Amino acid sequence: MKARIVTLPGDGVGPEVTAAAVAVLKTVATRYEHVFTFDEQQIGGAAIDATGEPLPAASLAACKRADAVLLGAVGGPKWSDPNAPVRPEQGLLALRSALGVYANLRPLQVHPALADLSPLKNEKLQNVDVLFVRELTGGAYFGAKTRTADTATDECKYTVAEIERVVRRAFELARARRRHLTSVDKANVLETSRLWRSTVQRLATDYPDVKVEHQLVDSMAMLLLTRPNAYDVVVTENLFGDILTDEAAALAGSLGLLPSASLSDGRRGLYEPIHGSAPDIAGTGAANPVGAILSAALLLRHSLQLETEALAIEAAVDQVLRDGPRSRDIGGTAGTDAVVAAVLAALDRHASCAIVSAGARACA
Ligand code: NAD
Ligand code: IPM
Ligand code: MN
Repeated sequence: MKARIVTLPGDGVGPEVTAAAVAVLKTVATRYEHVFTFDEQQIGGAAIDATGEPLPAASLAACKRADAVLLGAVGGPKWSDPNAPVRPEQGLLALRSALGVYANLRPLQVHPALADLSPLKNEKLQNVDVLFVRELTGGAYFGAKTRTADTATDECKYTVAEIERVVRRAFELARARRRHLTSVDKANVLETSRLWRSTVQRLATDYPDVKVEHQLVDSMAMLLLTRPNAYDVVVTENLFGDILTDEAAALAGSLGLLPSASLSDGRRGLYEPIHGSAPDIAGTGAANPVGAILSAALLLRHSLQLETEALAIEAAVDQVLRDGPRSRDIGGTAGTDAVVAAVLAALDRHASCAIVSAGARACA
């Protein structure tokens, strides 16, 4: 098939991990006879330096013409003065909003070979398989902001329509998994959370086959550490989802491992690792490319409907996490390039993977 992919490398380790994901996509294209064209555009601090804007009009226009968008990371100390008139992160938020990607899927699995890296005891990590569905285009991130010399406000607003579409998506995803949905809110304090909870309760009658539970976000932060394998699909608002998924990444062993897919009602999606620009290691060649590579797999699955190819990438990454080489954040000594080379080699061996049943892989 033919597909047009826009890449937005961004800042810090963003370009390093995006190059890794592109290398994997190019290998997939050759191996499976697809024609992917890559169109690199600016975003974030790099775009501010070049044009004065964190999301230049040309970048957004290219994204809107694309079949899928692959992003590295934005931000960094150079642009982090709290009094700066414009920030890299504004570019990413504007992009998510303009593409209408309201459902941010962040899958968490704990690779058995990495369980020792987690701060939790190994036995707690058996069978951890959680899909976080984070609302991505509403809430405090997008509400009105005010600022005077001694006061600041961030409005947190949600409409029923905004809650309904992301919660329906989560119910559908739960239906295709273990039929268990946990909705996380702060309904004991926040009005937006009470609207959220009553919307989930109303929609639940449309999904009688899905078990629904409600959890307050503070106790959820604790439960994620004490019984992470008790969850299937977890749906929550924008800010809570941001925080809980970085916490969840610690269970997997590193923030560098987790991918994400940001989906709208159409096929075009935005794909990015959940980590940031990692300024402390940027430019050293040490970044873990796995979160970005797995984001490329999600791109193939959700925007291009190439399930076999997505599974092949996931199988290749599985193998490299098991056998090495590993980057420093997960206890190894390898640089980004060595990990990518190993994934490409493993991909050769997994190119003949076939789907035998939902979620299962068989490799010749
Ligand atoms: P961060 O995710 O950049 O880094 C946190 C820690 O995790 C650091 O120690 C870093 O070295 C490590 N880490 C992150 N990714 C890694 C990888 N691939 N391999 C190995 N180690 C990795 O978070 P931060 O330091 O709080 O934020 C830095 C900047 O990134 C900020 O400007 C923030 O706004 C931005 N940010 C951007 C995105 C995005 O573009 N989607 C996401 C999160 C943070
Ligand atoms: C993420 C990041 C972003 C967010 C920032 C960079 C705007 O932390 O993708 O998780 O908060 O959504
Ligand atoms: Mn985040």
